[in-house]
Amino acid sequence: MSIFKKKEQAERVLPEHIAIIMDGNGRWAKNRKMPRSAGHVAGAKTFKTIARYCNKIGLKYLTVYAFSTENWKRPKAEVDGIMNLLRDYLKDAENFKDENIRVRFIGNLEPLADDIKALIDKNVEGSKNATGLTLYIAINYGGRDEITTAVKEIVREGIPAEDITEDTVSAHLYTKDCPDPDFIIRPSGEYRLSNYLIWQSAYAEYWFSDILWPDFTPKHLEKAIEDFNKRNRRFGGI
Ligand code: IPE
Ligand code: IPE
Ligand code: MG
Repeated sequence: MSIFKKKEQAERVLPEHIAIIMDGNGRWAKNRKMPRSAGHVAGAKTFKTIARYCNKIGLKYLTVYAFSTENWKRPKAEVDGIMNLLRDYLKDAENFKDENIRVRFIGNLEPLADDIKALIDKNVEGSKNATGLTLYIAINYGGRDEITTAVKEIVREGIPAEDITEDTVSAHLYTKDCPDPDFIIRPSGEYRLSNYLIWQSAYAEYWFSDILWPDFTPKHLEKAIEDFNKRNRRFGGI
C-alpha cells in the first residue's frame, strides 16, 4: 500500500522512467561491522522490494545500476560475490513471473560468465510478454562505453555525417527502446552520476539522499516521488 492517502494519490504524477543508482551497500555493512558482501546481499533484497513496489504503483520504467564498467577495479572476491548474487537472482526462474514485470539488461554483457549470459537470455525471453513494469538492470554498464559503442555502430552502418541527428545517437544506445529517465535517484550521500545514463539524463530531475541503499524503502521512494511532483520542469523554456 502506498503511504499516500487516497486524495493525495489521485493528484500525484508518477515519473515515466525512474533510474536508481543503488549505492551504499559497503558502508551499510561497515556500519554493522559486517563484510561488504553482506551489504550487497542486503542491497539485492532492497532491489527486489523496490522493483515490486514500482510495479505495484504502476510505474512504466525502472532502471537500476547494479554493476558499472568501473566496478571491475574492486577486489576479485567482491566482484565474484556480486556476480554470484546476480546469478542467484537470475536462477530464480520464477522471478517476477507472477508480477507481470518485463526484465531487460543494459551494458556490455559480453565479458560476463557464459552461464550468467544464458540466464540473462532466459529471464529476458521468459518475461518478454509482461505488460507491467519494464525493469532494466544495468550490468557492466558505463555511459561513456555506451556512447562509444553507439558511435562505432553508426560508423559501421555507414550513416553519412550530415544525416546523424540526436535521434540517431539515441537509437544506437542500449536504451533505444525506452524513454529517457525523467527522475534519477541516488542514495548514499554521493552527488554524482558515476557514468550512469549520461546521455539519457540530460534533462532528468535528480534526487539525492544520505540513506544507504539497503535501508531504502518504498516510503523513501514515495517521498522522492512527492518531491518530483514539486519540480518545475522547464526544458529551457520559461
Ligand atoms: C553499491 O554499493 C553496489 C555496487 C557498486 C556494486 P557500494 O559497494 O558502492 O557501497 P559503498 O559505496 O562502498 O558504500
Ligand atoms: C555506482 O556506484 C555504481 C553502482 C551503484 C553499480 P559506485 O560506488 O561504483 O560509484 P563511485 O565509485 O562512488 O562513483
Ligand atoms: Mg559506492
